[in-house]
Amino acid sequence: MSQRVAGFGTTVFVEINALAREHGAVNLGQGAPDFDGPPEVLAAAVTAVNSALNQYAPGTGMSSVRAAIAAHADRFYQQKVDPDFEVLVTSGATEAVFAAILGLTDAGDEVIVFEPVYDSYVPNMVMAGVTPRYVSLRGENWTFDPDELAKAFNARTRAIIINTPHNPTGKVYSREELNVIATLCQKHNVIAITDEVYEHILYDDAVHTRLATLPGMAERTLTISSLGKTFSVTGWKIGWAIGPAPLVTAVNRAHQFITFAVASPLQAAAATALGLPLSFFDNLRGMYQTKRDRMLASLQRAGFKALKPQGSYFIMCDWRGVAPVRITDDVQFAQWLTTEIGVACIPPSIFYQDADKHLAKYLARFSVCKKDETLRAAAERLSRLGKL
Ligand SMILES: Cc1ncc(COP(=O)(O)O)c(C=O)c1O
Repeated sequence: MSQRVAGFGTTVFVEINALAREHGAVNLGQGAPDFDGPPEVLAAAVTAVNSALNQYAPGTGMSSVRAAIAAHADRFYQQKVDPDFEVLVTSGATEAVFAAILGLTDAGDEVIVFEPVYDSYVPNMVMAGVTPRYVSLRGENWTFDPDELAKAFNARTRAIIINTPHNPTGKVYSREELNVIATLCQKHNVIAITDEVYEHILYDDAVHTRLATLPGMAERTLTISSLGKTFSVTGWKIGWAIGPAPLVTAVNRAHQFITFAVASPLQAAAATALGLPLSFFDNLRGMYQTKRDRMLASLQRAGFKALKPQGSYFIMCDWRGVAPVRITDDVQFAQWLTTEIGVACIPPSIFYQDADKHLAKYLARFSVCKKDETLRAAAERLSRLGKL
């Protein structure tokens, strides 16, 4: 095994999923729906398979899907992009982020991330020889200190990654926060890479702001998103990066030798998905609002202090007072909840790589992207907690 990957280990997701299977737990761990995507999108994939769309697509993506990605950006954010030079189709957002780091940074550069941080970013940086620099998200609203962020920028800073809506916290970055980030990016000539895979999963009156649409940011922002979360097809791994041609060209230099091209029939279906009427996106938001509200209430009834998310699939909770005293950290809690109560969750310490790891100790992350009956079964099991 190379030294490059030796430190990665296997993720706790694998362990919790195995435990959940072994103990027949209701799995609210992984952020993948246990229901299917829209029938017309699934049918479009089947039609594509049966229409001889089964050979390599162009490396940058099929023109119909690049056009659909550009039209979606315009429809929801009035973001104008040229589908021929400013859009790249990737194997999910995951590949887009990795190709962005490889294509836009050099070994020895620094990239700023907010902690807690989505689990692939830092390993991506390690593989690229890039140094992560952490800025804390803290408190019930997961805010950052603008001075701490300003101090994180230096002559070696090449990029900053912003994930909004945020996994695992459910934070949606406000326009004011994004303005602070935008000002610093321009002052230090830094590229912003945004991961917006939960862009359509928003609660209450939350508004998703695309950093690329703020003044001065279009020319230095790479916007990344994907089909998986919005269309409940996480297994398809169709993602994209949007940005100015020089950035997209650089990302494509890496992409062409990572995956080269992405599944043709699923790309064809992506064009159908992205073109669905507004009512689809409204219904999705309404469906998730109901799921989040119910799950929030169930967790609170069970004795958790739940931190209300503004977006994403997740609810973070403080479990103190809910578990026996012998449980002393988030990993033990997740194992105990899975094996003894029959509900699997994720221990958030996997999203901490730096000094704030202790903040995860009493937290648990629950996914709400599950059928109503799954959430009901989980609620019933969690209701035992209050009686322990
Ligand atoms: C923040 C974030 N980015 C990216 C991904 C993965 O996206 P994709 O399946 O499109 O690679 C996830 C999935 O959980 C995520 O939570």
